[in-house]
Amino acid sequence: MLMQINHKTQTVSLNIRNKDFYNNPYPYYEKLQQQCPMFYWQEHGLWTFVDHQSVSSILRDRRFGRQIEHLKSREELGLPAIPSNLKPFFDVDRHSMLGLEPPSHTRLRGLVQKGFMAREIERLRGRIETLCHQLIDKIEDNCGTSNFDFKEQYATPIPVIVIAEMLGVPETMVPELLRWSHNMIKMYEMQRTPEMEAAAVESSREFVNYLRSLVHDRRKRPQQDLISKLIEVESAGDRLSEDELIANCILLLNAGHEATVNVLGNGMVALFNHPQQLTLWRNHGPGDTPFSKAAVEELLRFDTPLHQFNRWVLEPLEIGGQHFEIGQEIALILGAANRDPAIFQNPHLLQLDRHPNPHVSFGGGIHYCLGAPLARLEIQISIPIFLQRLPNAQIKEHPVYANTYHFHGLESITMSTGVAG
Ligand code: HEM
Repeated sequence: MLMQINHKTQTVSLNIRNKDFYNNPYPYYEKLQQQCPMFYWQEHGLWTFVDHQSVSSILRDRRFGRQIEHLKSREELGLPAIPSNLKPFFDVDRHSMLGLEPPSHTRLRGLVQKGFMAREIERLRGRIETLCHQLIDKIEDNCGTSNFDFKEQYATPIPVIVIAEMLGVPETMVPELLRWSHNMIKMYEMQRTPEMEAAAVESSREFVNYLRSLVHDRRKRPQQDLISKLIEVESAGDRLSEDELIANCILLLNAGHEATVNVLGNGMVALFNHPQQLTLWRNHGPGDTPFSKAAVEELLRFDTPLHQFNRWVLEPLEIGGQHFEIGQEIALILGAANRDPAIFQNPHLLQLDRHPNPHVSFGGGIHYCLGAPLARLEIQISIPIFLQRLPNAQIKEHPVYANTYHFHGLESITMSTGVAG
């Protein structure tokens, strides 16, 4: 059975590894929203929220957080100790701003924030446009009339090259960056295997070693990149240690592409499944307009790239008649909240001019996505350029979603340019 709801106990059994679920979780979310919007998820031992109102308010509620060990030790909380074989991964993770609460979070976020403000990011517009055209030239030259993988040849290189350039990592390192990142993010999956853990640990080690040597090189020869700027901060006082610098560069390099790839991939397929909307954007063309801004938000909402984020309970509290103790973990399903009919009219329809569009794809509160302006710009530029340059492109095979849950994206997207041979 894929999903079973016990209304009496508010308990749900839901198998995320069932391919019917991970290929289209939305009908199951809808059923949960109607019947049990707050439930105890049996397989994961977590109280879980699928309605927009709860997800959105808990993200902003400071009684919940991404860190717990600043308040109580794992032992005090009755949590098992971190196994020693996983230490290399958690040595990085514990310095990442995403896993910290104030004051450490405020300090670290403050140090990198400036480089990711919308005005700063806007300067990258020309570079991103050039990159998109170069990738399409390559697709045209190499594939001609044969098929190509939109995900591999267009959606993946754009964000990974852009974030690597921002930090100052050479483009030749892109294959390694992708391998390290894909392995490391598996640690955020539910139900991970020992093989996934071993690959994540090995990649953490390699990534740290690589960045340590890059940092040492930049100390001697500073450049105009984010790593050099952060080294300046590190050298100026006690505001940033080298371990923190490396952990947060890894966070930026990984977060800088993993979700954006899925918005581009899921979004392109959604457009082909809504031909009128596809025509609308194609006719509108590239450009920074209210329509293109709204269209980007709708792609972010419609097939949410990151479905679940967890929070620790930081103080005793009550929600919906349920008591929560400090150290309990809860789950927020962003992918469900973005299809909540109480907030979005016709939530299962892609409507590029949807307004208002209060989706929660970038989260909310103090951990609100730092890279949102960059992701938005990349989507706003790359989708219409693709549609304009390849007006006859077609999807050739029914795309299948990867068997992952936190990250919701397609394995591959086989397309043709539509040009006759
Ligand atoms: C469409 C693409 C993206 C989506 C959907 C996305 C989504 C998110 C979400 C939901 C969070 C908050 C997690 C939580 O509250 O638990 C987050 C945090 C973060 N994101 Fe993104 N992200 C995207 C792209 C990017 C990019 C391009 C960067 C580039 C640097 C980035 C960097 C970060 C960082 C550093 C954080 C942690 C912020 C903090 O803890 O204060 N993200 N992202």
